[in-house]
Amino acid sequence: MTTSNYIMDNKDEILRLDLKTNLNILEKQVLWAGLEPGMSVGDMGCGPGKTTHHLNSLVQPQGSVTGVDISLDRINHANAHYLDDGIQYVLGDLRDPLPLGSYDFIFLRFVLEFYGSCAKQIINNLVSLLKPGGILCLIDLDHNCLSHYGIPDRLEAAIKGVMGALEESTGFDPYAGRKLYSHLYDLKFEDIRVDVSCHHLIYGDIEASEAFNWQKKLEIAAKNSGYGFKEFNNGYEGFKEASQKFFNNPRRFTYTPIICCCGQKPR
Ligand SMILES: C[S@@+](CC[C@H](N)C(=O)[O-])C[C@H]1O[C@@H](n2cnc3c(N)ncnc32)[C@H](O)[C@@H]1O
Repeated sequence: MTTSNYIMDNKDEILRLDLKTNLNILEKQVLWAGLEPGMSVGDMGCGPGKTTHHLNSLVQPQGSVTGVDISLDRINHANAHYLDDGIQYVLGDLRDPLPLGSYDFIFLRFVLEFYGSCAKQIINNLVSLLKPGGILCLIDLDHNCLSHYGIPDRLEAAIKGVMGALEESTGFDPYAGRKLYSHLYDLKFEDIRVDVSCHHLIYGDIEASEAFNWQKKLEIAAKNSGYGFKEFNNGYEGFKEASQKFFNNPRRFTYTPIICCCGQKPR
């Protein structure tokens, strides 16, 4: 297995993913995409298993879910905390052909953003695991981390600098969301549907889980991006301080568009 492009990897990533995963939103997204009881599901880039476990509850009776992730830590956590009848977890890299079964429904959320240059390769691998007529549900952010109001100019410039550095050094794609429709169109998928809504909508007092999420994004992704933080005399520390001040100010307004796209593999 090659190394992951997953820039968020660190010891607290299981906790961050567990805290930020909202099961009501997940359920709304997959029911919109056509998930039904009895289906066999691939939860690709499943993280610590919280999504897989909930998807499994939605396909009972007689359904099943395979959760696949590149991180041994998260697969171990999933096996320890989110295993149930109908669920299996597999350690695997979505960039490689995967020796798995064939599925009625494949779910890929918040993964393509880490793979600007090999998104097509990942999608082609997943399509080969989908039954004819099966549903592929792709969900990702657009203009990722870049839409804020009330933000100081130098902080905004530094955030743009970080995103640019991540694009260059890791292949991170802050615009993965807007590309989802075209992936399915190019593959001649049928009944393609798109929904656009808001992720990270923050105004007023920030919730503890959102604050933790942003703190981790700053600590991990921004710090490791290689960006120099030239806007601040004391570099990263100044950036961190300004970010915390901004996110803790109830006047700021922040959101990120989230794009859901689903379609059926041609029969
Ligand atoms: C942001 S999390 C999303 C988790 C889950 N899909 C969700 O919607 O909450 C991305 C997950 O994709 C996994 N991942 C990243 N690159 C991968 C790859 N090449 N193959 C398999 N999993 C990968 C990471 O390890 C991480 O657990």
